[in-house]
Amino acid sequence: MEKFIGKIITGDCIDLLDGVKPFADLVFADPPFNIGYKYDKYKDTVKSEQYLAWTRDWMRSCSNILRPKGSFYIAIGDDHAADVRNIGKELGLHMRNWIIWHYTFGQQTKQKFARAHTHIFYFIKDKNEYTFNDHAVRVPSDRQLTYNDKRANPKGKMPDDVWNEYSRVCGTFKEREKWHPCQMPETLLARIISVSSNPGDVVFDPFNGSGTTTATAQTLGRKYCGMDISKNYVTNAIKRLEKLKSYKPKNQTGLDQREVLELKRLYFDVGIRVKELFESKKFSGIFVNQFAMRMNNEKSYDETTIQKALRGIVTWPERGR
Ligand SMILES: C[S@@+](CC[C@H](N)C(=O)[O-])C[C@H]1O[C@@H](n2cnc3c(N)ncnc32)[C@H](O)[C@@H]1O
Repeated sequence: MEKFIGKIITGDCIDLLDGVKPFADLVFADPPFNIGYKYDKYKDTVKSEQYLAWTRDWMRSCSNILRPKGSFYIAIGDDHAADVRNIGKELGLHMRNWIIWHYTFGQQTKQKFARAHTHIFYFIKDKNEYTFNDHAVRVPSDRQLTYNDKRANPKGKMPDDVWNEYSRVCGTFKEREKWHPCQMPETLLARIISVSSNPGDVVFDPFNGSGTTTATAQTLGRKYCGMDISKNYVTNAIKRLEKLKSYKPKNQTGLDQREVLELKRLYFDVGIRVKELFESKKFSGIFVNQFAMRMNNEKSYDETTIQKALRGIVTWPERGR
């Protein structure tokens, strides 16, 4: 649907998607979880039955606008995770993974263990035809890094379905958009977008919020569309995208925005600090090689450039270890 592409639109996603033909190759939805968050327009405490009916409605709307080979990811809290799984089944979607995003910097409380996870469902429409770019998400294996095992796949291994590489976006992080109460990390969206879509594909987010999905899609060379019920959030998310368009990395390494984001993601995925990484010829060689693979081996990278770029773009606390 051409009128949606490259836009962030104010309105109720169910109304806006009514009667619209399939246009999205990838949908990422992070709805309010019904846990009392303070949004400016949406009230995040409704009766359980009402929330369930609403979830069924927006999931159906998103499924309707998903192209036949498309993928549909949904982030959801504990209380309604089982409902999302069942509605997915009702809608004829195939679940490929039930992912747990285990984040650091969970909110502390004296009364119970701190909540530090979110469920992410990965559905597809057609169980035989879908995009899955494994090379874009593979990580160096212990066989490669630690055991020098000849059986190690030089392309690395697939990450698990428990994702503990990406921290919550805390108030102090450079990435934080302070005008929105909950923001997903760009690295997490980059994993999803790079594995389940190709450059030029359309990525859609019905609950755009601070605009992480649309911003990451733009950085990774995808088309995008976002919707949010709040005009204020939409205005600010558009500004976020504009700012990104004119962004110039501070470090003089010549890497573009996509490379910078992908380098940050790989660094978090690997989980070895820059100093340790580049003290070892073996580690740095594997790291640079993995990065080149993720970038489709479109060009070659040298260790000095990668090390310099890493020092300029990531701080260890943002990984949360
Ligand atoms: C959990 S937040 C999404 C955060 C987003 N993933 C990010 O990284 O910034 C949910 C968003 O859904 C929006 N929302 C609630 N009901 C909506 C509806 N019916 N249609 C569109 N947006 C809605 C809220 O205003 C809020 O910004």
